[in-house]
Amino acid sequence: MDQEKFKKLFETLALVNSETGFAEVLDRVLTSASEIVSAEAGAILLIDDSGKNLKFVSATGPGAKEVKKYTLPLGKGIAGWVAKNGETVVVPDTSKDPRFYKKIADELEEQHESMAAIPLKVKGRTVGVLEVIHSSAEIQFSREDVEILEVFANQAALAIDKARLYERIFEQNRNLKSALSARYSFKDIQSQDPVVEQIIETGRMVAKTNSTVLILGESGTGKELLAQAIHNESPRASGPFLAINCGAIPETLLEAELFGYEKGAFTGAAGRKLGKVELADGGTLFLDEVAELPMSLQVKFLRVLQERVLERLGGAEPIEVNVRVIAATNKRLDEEIREKRFREDLYYRLNVVPLQIPPLRARKTDIPVLADFFLKIYTRQMQKKIHGFSERASKLLQDYSWPGNIRELQNAIERAVVLCTTDKIEFKHLSLTQMKELSDDRIVSFKEAQHRFKRDYIIKSLAQTGGNQTAAAKILEIQRTYLSRLLKELNIPAS
Ligand SMILES: Nc1ncnc2c1ncn2[C@@H]1O[C@H](COP(=O)(O)OP(=O)(O)OP(=O)(O)O)[C@@H](O)[C@H]1O
Ligand SMILES: [Mg+2]
Repeated sequence: MDQEKFKKLFETLALVNSETGFAEVLDRVLTSASEIVSAEAGAILLIDDSGKNLKFVSATGPGAKEVKKYTLPLGKGIAGWVAKNGETVVVPDTSKDPRFYKKIADELEEQHESMAAIPLKVKGRTVGVLEVIHSSAEIQFSREDVEILEVFANQAALAIDKARLYERIFEQNRNLKSALSARYSFKDIQSQDPVVEQIIETGRMVAKTNSTVLILGESGTGKELLAQAIHNESPRASGPFLAINCGAIPETLLEAELFGYEKGAFTGAAGRKLGKVELADGGTLFLDEVAELPMSLQVKFLRVLQERVLERLGGAEPIEVNVRVIAATNKRLDEEIREKRFREDLYYRLNVVPLQIPPLRARKTDIPVLADFFLKIYTRQMQKKIHGFSERASKLLQDYSWPGNIRELQNAIERAVVLCTTDKIEFKHLSLTQMKELSDDRIVSFKEAQHRFKRDYIIKSLAQTGGNQTAAAKILEIQRTYLSRLLKELNIPAS
């Protein structure tokens, strides 16, 4: 191998190794390989997870775009042969080689090219194929070209493998992070109400500290939204935000969920499990519906707040945790204390900074603000052109008592956008009276109940698919034609 080529080889290898992204490494390998042997085109194919197919992951030259659509079964085509046998192949004229994969060749109208296809191997295992191409069979790859490409391919395969691994870890990491993190910040809280503005101001201040926060408010008033905003504006923002709903989990499971357990702590505890308190280390734990925390766990939780330590079930050692606690409830804790359902000492520990979110009916100026906000979101999502509310609809929104608060308003608007076929939301689209009837305990006929259920169910599914009936039918696992029949029957306008 002459000096000049040797030097070039080392230079390109250094470049390949300096790239970190998977796609960048692939492109760099391909252009470097082509440059080393002055080839006009090339491709990299990698064996997929099933181990049965080769996928074009990078390509240069005239057919580069089309070729990327192809998957080659292992053993098929020149690359397939190389991948299966782990040996280099030099083809003087692709059109004359029986291995050439007709399906791709015909589409690309490739003709009379010369090609070298080299296996990409990691620790002796073939992971893919590097192809370089001269666009005319008049130019051939020399023995020396092939030798240098083989040296290059060995190193390149390692770089590709490493980049692929990084990419996977990165992806897993990102998924994990998004599952543990809070979506909302203070700017997502829509309000013009002075009380809410005051809460936001206090929230911003307390976010900077480690103080425990107690958020009080009726169901659907935005307690979790506020908790997330506080976390996101705190120095812990890059740490986890973990929420646990104390009312949604049975007592025995709740203990394990909160504090975790050691292997063998009880029958069936096959391994160690970390609890949410421990997992929230360095971040924020959101203790939702804290009034539902059973007495036995209140004691344990008090210890977390007082000493910042916890014990896993069946664990001998106390574990230190650095966690910020935000608790929320829609119950009156003073009443719970009087009824002996909530410990007074825990209450004082939680009630360091109380934030009371007023119900929607006590902040009527926010109704149009929030209604417009949700209208914008859902019209965009469902790609409809709706520009506001009719006078009667506005009045209804304003006069309604909103027992379900902002969540109810949000659902009402979502529903109205599904039902609306004009450019304004009308009174009839809101059907709030119906919601009221649904939420009270008045028994209606079985037929009527079925009718309402079906209607709500289908509207919800349409809302979720942005009005797309085919997609909705799929979710509901019914035929598209049956769905459109139901829409007529239940008087739901098809958009
Ligand atoms: N001020 C606001 N601006 C915009 N969206 C809001 C506002 N308040 C609440 N929301 C939205 O209303 C819905 C309900 O809010 P959230 O889940 O935070 O309420 P909650 O008090 O935790 O309810 P629950 O007691 O039922 O758990 C969410 O979709 C939230 O994003
Ligand atoms: Mg909540």
